[in-house]
Amino acid sequence: MRRALITSALPYANGEIHLGHVASTYLPADITARFLRMSGVEAYYVCASDDFGTPILIQSEKEGKAPADYVAHWNRRDREDFGRLGISFDYFSGTSSDANVRFVQDAFRRLDEAGHIYRRDVVQFYCAHDEKFLPDRYVRGTCPHCSAADQYSDLCEACGRIPDEISDPRCALCGRPPEKRTTEHHFFRLGGFADRLSGWLEGNGSLQRDVVRYVQNWIRSGLEDWDVTRDIPWGVPVPGADGRVFYGWFDNHLAYISSTLKFLEGRGIDGEQFWNSAEIYHFIGKDIIYHHYLFLPAMRMGLGRFKLPDRMPVRGHLTFQSRKLSKSKGWYIGLADFMGSYPADYLRYYLASMTPYSQDDLNFDWDDFAARINSELIGNLGNFVNRALGFAKSRFDGRVPDPGGEDPGPAGLISGLARGVGGLLEENHIDRALRRLMEFSAGFNQYFQHAEPWKGGPGAARCVYYSVNAARSLAIASSPFIPFSAQRIWGQLGLEGDASAAPWEGCSEAALAPGHAIGDPEPLFARVEAADIGRLKGGMGR
Ligand code: 2FM
Ligand code: ZN
Repeated sequence: MRRALITSALPYANGEIHLGHVASTYLPADITARFLRMSGVEAYYVCASDDFGTPILIQSEKEGKAPADYVAHWNRRDREDFGRLGISFDYFSGTSSDANVRFVQDAFRRLDEAGHIYRRDVVQFYCAHDEKFLPDRYVRGTCPHCSAADQYSDLCEACGRIPDEISDPRCALCGRPPEKRTTEHHFFRLGGFADRLSGWLEGNGSLQRDVVRYVQNWIRSGLEDWDVTRDIPWGVPVPGADGRVFYGWFDNHLAYISSTLKFLEGRGIDGEQFWNSAEIYHFIGKDIIYHHYLFLPAMRMGLGRFKLPDRMPVRGHLTFQSRKLSKSKGWYIGLADFMGSYPADYLRYYLASMTPYSQDDLNFDWDDFAARINSELIGNLGNFVNRALGFAKSRFDGRVPDPGGEDPGPAGLISGLARGVGGLLEENHIDRALRRLMEFSAGFNQYFQHAEPWKGGPGAARCVYYSVNAARSLAIASSPFIPFSAQRIWGQLGLEGDASAAPWEGCSEAALAPGHAIGDPEPLFARVEAADIGRLKGGMGR
């Protein structure tokens, strides 16, 4: 049996999920997970909150909360928000869970024993005013690679690289220039993995070629060994190094594995065996390529135990009305806010319709959103389902009529659906898969229009037979994209259970036999009104 393990980038436990995260990782991963499960793959979608790191510590200090309480709050909030959006995690943990802490410490010991770790004195920024070492986000300054100003010392948001030494440093807490002090850190020999990383990148044909090309460039220009410890009080304690913790990027991706093991243990499944026999998918945004294409595989190589990723789809940023999202400028939409205005499936539909398999940025535009929901989701899909079921209800006594013979046109549309949409989903082309599904619906709208069943001619029963069956096909094939609406169609068809439990291939069968009693047809969607869109647009920015 085919197996798959799917993860998406772990959300930092220090703020609400926003639409950018959803578009680049959670939704594409969820659609894939749902599709694979329906395809009979034993697929699990696992995630966790990313609990450690300096931004979280800084923020919890500002709010006067213990870091553990602070991250517990965001972990809960994330679960709720994801649940409302229909993100179907099988397991959602946190990197500060006991299971992850133990797993990370064990991984460290193994890497150390295998010679991949060494200790070295490093000179670190230290703020005499705050009496603190200042790793990562505690320091801001100019990126030494691209000269972008006001970058954190752990990631330059302008060039995506990790500054080795930031220029013009300032303490992020008090703004004073820090001094330097010596402390002992642990290093991971990333440089020692250059050839193996390069070989893996070339050998894995399922990675995006453009991503591979520039990761290879990083490798060619030389990989620095990686400082994996921090002098802060919040993190996974480094075994044997008093008071020191691991850098968040040392432990967070290990939570992909530790959470999977924990979840599968609860199901009585041998997690390590599962991992090594499954297709491993990690969905990420383009700002964290370095970590996922270098640190992550190198650590797995060093451990020699857990299979490397098969696919790591990388997607671009989301802009809003063509401007970069910015929380401080109010140019931003939280997930919970959005869902206060519109159903989850509107967002899922809109984002999926423009999510390519590439790093191109996506743009959320309110007018485009309204147009697509009204003309595509409602005008095409909703309209077709409603017409088909409405007709069966009013003209055929709520039953699927006897077609009295085959019609190769609609029969062919139905039989080609599973492979058409499924083939594109297998290859991660979310937008194209959804377009293919909408073409199916448009094709049936035309067929219905052309057959003119309202005239009651001899072809009416056949048209309604195929159309009601096509509505069932739509319920199944739309389920990964718009699960809530798919389920409503399912109910209106008078079908028991869940649309998402139907086998994927079932969308290519005309399985509703003559005589089947449908449920009560009702409009599936409410239009997006221009006045509401105007108000939402006006509320953006401050
Ligand atoms: O960039 C981020 O938002 C990180 N929290 C992603 C972590 S993914 C991982 F765990 F590898
Ligand atoms: Zn300071």
